[in-house]
Amino acid sequence: MSEGTRILIIGGGVAGYPAAIRASRMGAEVTLIEKDAIGGTCLNWGCIPTKALMQSASVVRTLKSAAHFGIRCHGYDVDFGAVMSRKNAVVSRLTRGVGALLKARKINVVQGTASFVDSKTVQISETGEKIRADAILIATGSKPGRIRVDGIDGPDVMDSNQVLGMTSLPAGVVVIGGGVIGVEFAQFLAAMGTRVTILELMPGLAPGVDRELASLLEKRTILSGIEVITGAAVKGITRSGTENVVTYTAGDKAATAAADKVIVTVGRRPDFSLLDVDRIGVRHENGAIVVDEHMQTNIPGVYAAGDVVGGIMLAHLASAEGECAVQNILGNRETMSYRAVPSCIYTSPEVAFVGLTEEQAGQSHDIRVGRFPFRANGKAVVLNDLEGMVKIISDGTTDEVLGVHIIGPHATDLIAEAVLGMRKKMTAGDFARTIHPHPTLSEAIMEAAMTLAGGAVHMP
Ligand code: NAI
Repeated sequence: MSEGTRILIIGGGVAGYPAAIRASRMGAEVTLIEKDAIGGTCLNWGCIPTKALMQSASVVRTLKSAAHFGIRCHGYDVDFGAVMSRKNAVVSRLTRGVGALLKARKINVVQGTASFVDSKTVQISETGEKIRADAILIATGSKPGRIRVDGIDGPDVMDSNQVLGMTSLPAGVVVIGGGVIGVEFAQFLAAMGTRVTILELMPGLAPGVDRELASLLEKRTILSGIEVITGAAVKGITRSGTENVVTYTAGDKAATAAADKVIVTVGRRPDFSLLDVDRIGVRHENGAIVVDEHMQTNIPGVYAAGDVVGGIMLAHLASAEGECAVQNILGNRETMSYRAVPSCIYTSPEVAFVGLTEEQAGQSHDIRVGRFPFRANGKAVVLNDLEGMVKIISDGTTDEVLGVHIIGPHATDLIAEAVLGMRKKMTAGDFARTIHPHPTLSEAIMEAAMTLAGGAVHMP
């Protein structure tokens, strides 16, 4: 079935390009259409550039704590231009790499904007070229969300894409939205020396994260010198001289926060605006393309994957959805599973989790919760990175792990073990009895599980 099947993929982000490579490996003839840059949001304006910037922030933190390790540093300067150049170099190295992979797989990459002519044909707006295929995968991603308040279109109000293009370091910023992007940007800019205020609508930062972890993240964010105002409903932005004044209400009181720049990070929304999907009748609801469990839309042969289908918008999930779509297009019946999807926040401390939060699990199960603090882990003491913990939630009857939540050093790398365990429906006992290498941070996962299986070794 796969040999010679013509697949058209619209969007070269992390849903589209891995799907293109997979389809090509399976023998399909693949055309990938991208209007902007290969790699999409993740490589160009999202995961990769922001993590490159967070690494510069991490270097600042290392310098500040150098004396603890017996290394005396005599001050440091932030060269913001060099920080941004290094970020750009990281991005171009990776996008060049992806370009080379696509070329090696003989994938036909078309630069341009696609829109549907019929369910098997798209047209490239810039050239008028029409491309026909046996199946089409929509992987056009998402764009930053906006709030509708006065002043939101002002020249100093930036979305995440614009922040990544900044050429000079602002003296102060007000960040509207204290979700994952907001807190990451806030911490990066604060580490560079910018005065930062976060205005978050909900009662705490990072809504959706297990509350115990989110409040520790909030505490650490405040301790790093960032002003955090929660329960803040933004009303408008006005300019006063060189400053932008953000008016908000918090607890029935009106207040203002002023800075030279304002950053808006209030979520992202699926983007298929240029595709003209209505011409072929693709169903969409609440701004997202609707797909079944095989990633197929209501139009046979038209599939969609990644942020454009809404729900959890994460790069690794987009790739998995793209892979699932290609498998189905090429005749392997696969069902998309959302059972074990990790989430990562690259803040200080890092946060990573998979499965249910304690609040969610408690509503549907009789739960047991095991915790292990990094301060009792040998490697964390070596690193002098003691804050945080691993928390494992298991079903009180079956011992199956329902959720794993980590806040602390290298949480985003550590979570992979928990994802595999949850995918394989492992119990807390399985985690506890698995031999973990010593000395490593991963032992904290084992010891958190041990607290549910007879008790941890390194806890009184
Ligand atoms: P988000 O949904 O994580 O956070 C948006 C925040 O803005 C929420 O806390 C919300 O309560 C708040 N908010 C909404 N309206 C507001 C208002 N009018 N005033 C004040 N606060 C308001 O969205 P975010 O951070 O923009 O990220 C977008 C997407 O990108 C997410 O789906 C996320 O999963 C993904 N992403 C993931 C990253 C990661 O995994 N490390 C990093 C960056 C993005």
